[in-house]
Amino acid sequence: MSTGYRPLVFAHRGGADALPEHTLGAYLRALEEGADGLECDVRLTRDGHLVCVHDSKLDRTSDGRGRVSSKTLAELDSLNYGSWHPGYPADAELPDLARLLTLERLLEAVRSCGRPVRLLIETKHPSRYGAEVERRLVRMLRHYGLADPKPDDDVQVTVMSFAALALRRIRAQAPALPTVYLMEFVPPGAGRGRLPFGARTAGPGVELIRARPSLLPAIKAAGHQVYVWTVNDEADLSLVLEHRVDGVITDRPRFVLDQLDRM
Ligand code: G3P
Ligand code: CA
Repeated sequence: MSTGYRPLVFAHRGGADALPEHTLGAYLRALEEGADGLECDVRLTRDGHLVCVHDSKLDRTSDGRGRVSSKTLAELDSLNYGSWHPGYPADAELPDLARLLTLERLLEAVRSCGRPVRLLIETKHPSRYGAEVERRLVRMLRHYGLADPKPDDDVQVTVMSFAALALRRIRAQAPALPTVYLMEFVPPGAGRGRLPFGARTAGPGVELIRARPSLLPAIKAAGHQVYVWTVNDEADLSLVLEHRVDGVITDRPRFVLDQLDRM
């Protein structure tokens, strides 16, 4: 872009438009295409493993049924997470398009992919397990040396949540870990630019930006960054670029990268 401004581009659920969401094949493809980073959701299995699945139930994105939280890792690992999606290739060109993605598998992959990666990890439904999701997440990030980020680390993790409580738990256990406060509506204080529990970045939905364009100047004036989700078409991309957001979270990373290259 001629102005020197260019937002970071994050592949939402790995780039959920073209390929089955939350599969390693989708994430690797997004990195090949040049995404700056990846977004994933994490949930806990019945036996305490962190897995990358968006919905509370398996029904939409696998050939299984029922709640993720009621299954063991071994049960979840036996399902197919790709065949439901129109982009699932019949020739299995990318074999990791069908396998359950655990957070551990994702961290191993980004660590060994040979390029810098920003990873946005969203914790889902913290109340269901009390503090367990955040506790296990921080423990795993510590194991990989990612809980106390340094500027030259190749993998940079940021934790995101719609729940201020989750951000408080992350801050208490890993104060140096950056966090994003996700917003579907304007929570108390956020309209004046205040974010809870040391969150560095605001994460409004693009619908919220359309409905409340005054929100972003207030957040930026308070010194926060802004990552907007889920930006999938030209109109929404133009809107968030006008606001000079710091990050764009998209199901269509290739489309967004192409648009940015043309500017
Ligand atoms: O990146 C934030 C966005 O992912 C939040 O919405 O429902 O896709 O997790 P959702
Ligand atoms: Ca998410």
